[in-house]
Amino acid sequence: MVQDAELRSNFEKLYQARPRLYRAPGRVNLIGEHTDYNDGFVMPVAVDLYTWVAIAPRRDRKLVLHSQNYSDGVEVDLDRVSPGPRRHWSDYVRGVAAILERMGLRLPGASLLIHGEVPIGSGLGSSAALEVSSGYALLSLAGIPIDRTQLSLACQRAEHEFAGTRCGIMDQFISCHGRSEHALLLDTRSLAFEWLPLPSQVNVIVCNTMVKHNLAADEYNTRRAECESGVRALAARLPELRALRDAGLSDLEENAAALPQKIYRRCRHVISENERVKAAACALKEKNFAVLRCLMGESHRSLRDDYEVSCRELDVMVELAAQLEGVYGARMTGGGFGGCTVNLVRAEKSAQFQTRIAQEYEKHAGLKPEVYVCTAAEGVQERLGTGESICA
Ligand code: GLA
Repeated sequence: MVQDAELRSNFEKLYQARPRLYRAPGRVNLIGEHTDYNDGFVMPVAVDLYTWVAIAPRRDRKLVLHSQNYSDGVEVDLDRVSPGPRRHWSDYVRGVAAILERMGLRLPGASLLIHGEVPIGSGLGSSAALEVSSGYALLSLAGIPIDRTQLSLACQRAEHEFAGTRCGIMDQFISCHGRSEHALLLDTRSLAFEWLPLPSQVNVIVCNTMVKHNLAADEYNTRRAECESGVRALAARLPELRALRDAGLSDLEENAAALPQKIYRRCRHVISENERVKAAACALKEKNFAVLRCLMGESHRSLRDDYEVSCRELDVMVELAAQLEGVYGARMTGGGFGGCTVNLVRAEKSAQFQTRIAQEYEKHAGLKPEVYVCTAAEGVQERLGTGESICA
């Protein structure tokens, strides 16, 4: 964990100026996977792993960026931002700046020092945390009032255009709107949301399989295209249907013959997952952990068999967790093809769970996992010099 003071002091050494400091959280999704680009429902939690940005203004119109993670620096001319993805960490910051400017928000030149604690490419929203922290920092520096929902939409656009992933809104939205001790139930069509208290007797534990499969970005866009083709086929028979969110399982069954097998299974995942999110929200409110456990199990199987975004390591981690004491639910989380699982674990069994899952996973997968006991965190915010925080 980088201390505020350390980042400030590194910034001062690098740029000979005093910075302001911001941080945006990563996230873990409890349930509602691959539903957000289908106008559906999601239930993420912002976690206490952050991307930090130290920033100070410059007199010119340049962004001078330095990443501590990559030990690498880049300059961006705000008057001549090159378009499109370059497959470089700075794409996210360049993209957010370009989109904000395109929205008519004039940004100042600035020096930025970035430090990410969210494991990169592990399905915990590291790119969204980078987009949101830098977007928020740039807007604050410019003295522009920040609408958190608008910022999350700008960051999503940046990811589409400058990173080439046609992601949904979940990661950016929770990084902006996270709340300590709460999960967030989001309707990704209307962007209406509700904070759901996380019961104190449960810990949210994230297990990192430590594998990342390269196909993730391509397969993600392919899944999205498959859902769109499902919508086109269904809409020919159900004219009211705009997105898979508008279909029920009975609509799908009645029109199954109109869909190729694979597209049918993709649609079945999304449609059933939306139902599971709504049921999980009720179960969480009622602290009905038996129901939550079933829903998370079904979600994982649906992602594995119908949506085909799991992998052996994720399946192993989930199967091992399900056998341990005090587990109220386990499933893969995020885009898939590696990355992390999310586990709801009874608080007093949490220490035992961490030891056992690490031992068992290493035995079965031959890899040492990372295990994080997460605290639900606030959305993006400025960190004041005293260590106190303020919210926009
Ligand atoms: C990635 C995307 C999100 C969402 C998840 C899958 O994290 O950024 O928008 O689609 O995958 O649920």
